[in-house]
Amino acid sequence: MCGIVGYIGEKKAKPILINGLLRLEYRGYDSAGIATIENNEIKNIKNKGRVSELNNISEINSLNGTVGIGHTRWATHGKPSSLNSHPHMDNSNNFAVVHNGIIENYSDLKEFLKSHKYKFLSETDTEVIPNLIHFNYKNSNETGENKFLKAVIDTCKMLKGSYAIEVLSAYHPDNMIVVRKDSPLVIGKGENECYISSDIPAILSFAKDFYLLNDMEFAYISKNNVKFYNDKAIEINKEIKNITWDAGSAEKDGYPDFMLKEINEQPKAIRETIGSRISLDSKTNIDDFNFNKKYLQSITKIFIVACGTAMHAGLTGKNIIENLCEIPVEVEVASEFRYKNPIITQNSLCIFITQSGETADTIAALKLAKTKGAKTIAISNVIGSSITREADYTIYTHAGPEIAVASTKAYTSQIVLLAIISIYFAEILGKNPKKIEDLKNNILKLPSHIETILKDTTKIKDFAKKIFKEKDVFFIGRNVDYPVAMEGSLKLKEISYIHSEAYPSGELKHGPIALIENNVTVVSILTNRLLLEKSISNIQEVVTRGAKTFIVTNQELNHEFDEVIKIPKTNALISPVLSVIPLQLLAYYISKEKGLDVDKPRNLAKSVTVE
Ligand code: M6R
Repeated sequence: MCGIVGYIGEKKAKPILINGLLRLEYRGYDSAGIATIENNEIKNIKNKGRVSELNNISEINSLNGTVGIGHTRWATHGKPSSLNSHPHMDNSNNFAVVHNGIIENYSDLKEFLKSHKYKFLSETDTEVIPNLIHFNYKNSNETGENKFLKAVIDTCKMLKGSYAIEVLSAYHPDNMIVVRKDSPLVIGKGENECYISSDIPAILSFAKDFYLLNDMEFAYISKNNVKFYNDKAIEINKEIKNITWDAGSAEKDGYPDFMLKEINEQPKAIRETIGSRISLDSKTNIDDFNFNKKYLQSITKIFIVACGTAMHAGLTGKNIIENLCEIPVEVEVASEFRYKNPIITQNSLCIFITQSGETADTIAALKLAKTKGAKTIAISNVIGSSITREADYTIYTHAGPEIAVASTKAYTSQIVLLAIISIYFAEILGKNPKKIEDLKNNILKLPSHIETILKDTTKIKDFAKKIFKEKDVFFIGRNVDYPVAMEGSLKLKEISYIHSEAYPSGELKHGPIALIENNVTVVSILTNRLLLEKSISNIQEVVTRGAKTFIVTNQELNHEFDEVIKIPKTNALISPVLSVIPLQLLAYYISKEKGLDVDKPRNLAKSVTVE
């Protein structure tokens, strides 16, 4: 959840670290800090608050070192405060550490260190790490580079939990050691310099060639060399990966926020995700997929496992797969799935969806499915992310970096990819050729349909102005529209802090309708012609009780509602890709009206790397 960044080279580290932290701030933003080495001494400046506040501290300009580490925090252990901010130092001030993750056995380690006279300043789990490194360093018989390396390796062997850490040592002022376990970390290699970061976009303007660390791989970094070791301190080889994303794609590009930019990027994201995977006159082609008819016929159940918005995409994916492939699909929240002993057999196929590829619960769920013998497919947006290294098959959405905490273009791209996978399976199984043809036709038209919706958003903006002070908003929909209601409701609550709930329209009268009173807003999605009359009746039931109505529809309506947003018609199975756009915009404009930070909503972080 936290963001970590590092630099080692010939330039002054401070501006590079601040720049990286600003780009990583979406991962956590309650406090920040940086440490650099100068004249064999570690200088450490940290503060509660945003990176911009850290950068305003006057002493920060006195940091002239060319080796440094930085951190932006999402508090887990200990409230946001200067003392709890990273970097954390050991008692002798010779080691500085930044950490993303959770050290589960930190209490035991603290007791152990206290018994050796170590003192603690913070409430964090992290502070045990620099002190353990100091302890292991002091008690080591090694010399030189090995002494530093072994002290870090021995420390990591004592840690339980998840971590990506960067370590500076005043004894080794030209080096840095970094390691990861179940938390992301990448190293960008430039000419006589290296950049370290929790993710690629934060340092994309500095480096194009990256090393992607695997769990328990240790990198011993100097400005012109990176050596990799396993946990037995044996040197290992690692390939360098050239990343072709352009740096501009991680910038705001003239938009006031990343979220608005990313909403507007959806046509492009979907075009890129479709790529050459489907065409009207040939079979669907997915790189690296080698499924055959016999195997697919043996599948008795497909599980789709994910969290948050990705799980909502999975609910739409379920409709598509069941409809085209006629295989039952269960959609599970990853944090539940991993602890419920799911009934998975070799005849189960498990699909895991995660934009970041770093969500701890989704990765753990995938590992569980593998132990039960199921084949696993990861759908991710981030090349080389952790989940892609665990799954049997990985298929990427090509949405480009998604920076805003509220997921938009990743969601619509995930649905499109699930539709492509469904078509691929159905074609092999020889099922529903007519439906496939219609779906393909409509998938190809999605980008231009989204462009049409985005052309004029005035009505949505005006409605946002009317309701931004409200306390509760309800979202309803039937059939394919219900998962979109859930997604619209999640978008609204996470960036506007308005309480909101989603219900299947027909369920309202079984309880929730008791909450409808004068002026409560009900957002309703209506894209299913067959269920139109029933859905209208449900809306009338809330109108009668005084509700304001905001309708998103592709149908002709003969009734008066407070606001009706028309969207283009498409194949019902993929209609969520279009109907969600007005809901994303409604949440966005409400948040703006309230003057909130749309990209960095309170209490949240982009990648949830702790369970
Ligand atoms: O990176 P992931 O797709 O695994 O993230 C899953 C959820 O944390 C994420 O979708 C979250 O719900 C978003 N903030 C919603 O906008």
